[in-house]
Amino acid sequence: MTARINPSILSADFVNMQHDLDRIATADYVHVDVMDNHFVPNLTFGPQMVQRIQETSPIPLDVHLMIADPDRWAPGYAELGAFSVTFHLEAATDPVAVARALRARGSRAGVAVKPDTPVDALLDIVAEFDQILVMTVEPGFGGQSFMPGVLPKLGQLTRAISQQGCDVWLQVDGGVTEDTIVEAAAAGADTFVAGSSVYGHADPSVAIAALRRAAGEHPHAR
Ligand code: DX5
Ligand code: ZN
Repeated sequence: MTARINPSILSADFVNMQHDLDRIATADYVHVDVMDNHFVPNLTFGPQMVQRIQETSPIPLDVHLMIADPDRWAPGYAELGAFSVTFHLEAATDPVAVARALRARGSRAGVAVKPDTPVDALLDIVAEFDQILVMTVEPGFGGQSFMPGVLPKLGQLTRAISQQGCDVWLQVDGGVTEDTIVEAAAAGADTFVAGSSVYGHADPSVAIAALRRAAGEHPHAR
């Protein structure tokens, strides 16, 4: 398996963003957490900031929308040129329509589920998405502990994806460290978001390399 490591700039220094983007140049994608203080009890930034990050970042953007009404707002993030845009299943009225709107605008379409949200509703429609994000913490804040209890959802999704013969990346986000990434990879994840474990390191590129190595270490990783 080639693990994708996507550092989350939620743990970056917001007033030195250019510097903190340059520090993760060895990552695969930069994970951009958009929060609206409504879907989650925290506020980050909106499209103007995402546009500047898009213009500034050495690597493509993996935008994670923790916002209400993605049916209305998600396509605009694809229009900014994000590599992928992931919205929350719990917030969407018509998830398939949102995914199609994202793809039509040139982004990969991602859908996310909170820890308590089952993935059963996604199993028959996995082919509509390019990425499915299984949250391993309650969305809203960095620095929380990884919740291993959600990992069986990755097995359900892996089976549905292989039965339907499509290529859908499985992402985990929240509490990902050099230790927890091993069990997430073993459970079927191939794309890993890490905020505090990357930016908490004196040299983020060392942390990224360590995560990459640890993700590849499990014999059952796909
Ligand atoms: C949380 C965000 C995460 C967050 C992860 O709601 O979606 O992307 O930055 O942070 P860590 O890796 O510190 O748990
Ligand atoms: Zn995130």
